Amino acid sequence: MASTVIAIDGPAASGKSTAARNLAVRLGIPYINTGSLYRAIAWKAGQRGISTRDEAALQAMLADTSIRYAVPADGGNPDIEIDGVFPGQALRAPEIAQGASNVAAIPFVRAFTLQIQRDAAKNSLVVMEGRDIGTAVFPDAKYKFFLTASPEVRAKRRLLQDGGVPDPAEIAKIAVEIAARDKTDSTRADSPLKPAPDAVYLDNSLLDRQQTLNYMLERILK
Ligand code: CDP
Repeated sequence: MASTVIAIDGPAASGKSTAARNLAVRLGIPYINTGSLYRAIAWKAGQRGISTRDEAALQAMLADTSIRYAVPADGGNPDIEIDGVFPGQALRAPEIAQGASNVAAIPFVRAFTLQIQRDAAKNSLVVMEGRDIGTAVFPDAKYKFFLTASPEVRAKRRLLQDGGVPDPAEIAKIAVEIAARDKTDSTRADSPLKPAPDAVYLDNSLLDRQQTLNYMLERILK
């Protein structure tokens, strides 16, 4: 039987978190953001003064790290709990993004996160969002989407999401950061960012949130 996962993959700021969240609400099922896993590892490394490129130190750190998805006390979607704490919004700090991408390229990190992601989808149908859900984590997912948008649209969305003013210089700066991360993510040897051959590919540059949601729902509920 195909696994009970709706996989949504795509590059940074492609609108996949919003689409995944909206889809989960509409279907009444949990939403799981897998980028938080890599962000949590980068966050803990930062707290310990460990470089996200120091593989030996990261390996020792992971040997002493427990991570799982758990529903926070105030309810809502399963969120990352690392060593008994929920870092929550701290994981969204812009400086964590490239560190997350660095640790995500390391095979022993991906081996560590694989089972956590599979466990998170054990009990119910879930919407799971990331880079390799349809290719590596759940290659047998029942529904797979690959969401993307033009670099300018993505940079503008990220700026607005972080509360910034969308002036051209700021957009250009974020576009450079996003392009660097796209490069790390799509050129790594282990589980690179790429559409699964059987994924529905959607460039949503010209679509708003509702249109993106409708497009996906049409393919799931048909
Ligand atoms: O929100 P945004 O798209 O900026 O990033 P994210 O989804 O929070 O992911 C942060 C980083 O984690 C990405 O740049 C990837 O390097 C990594 N990641 C991954 O390798 N595999 C996943 N399934 C999810 C995220």
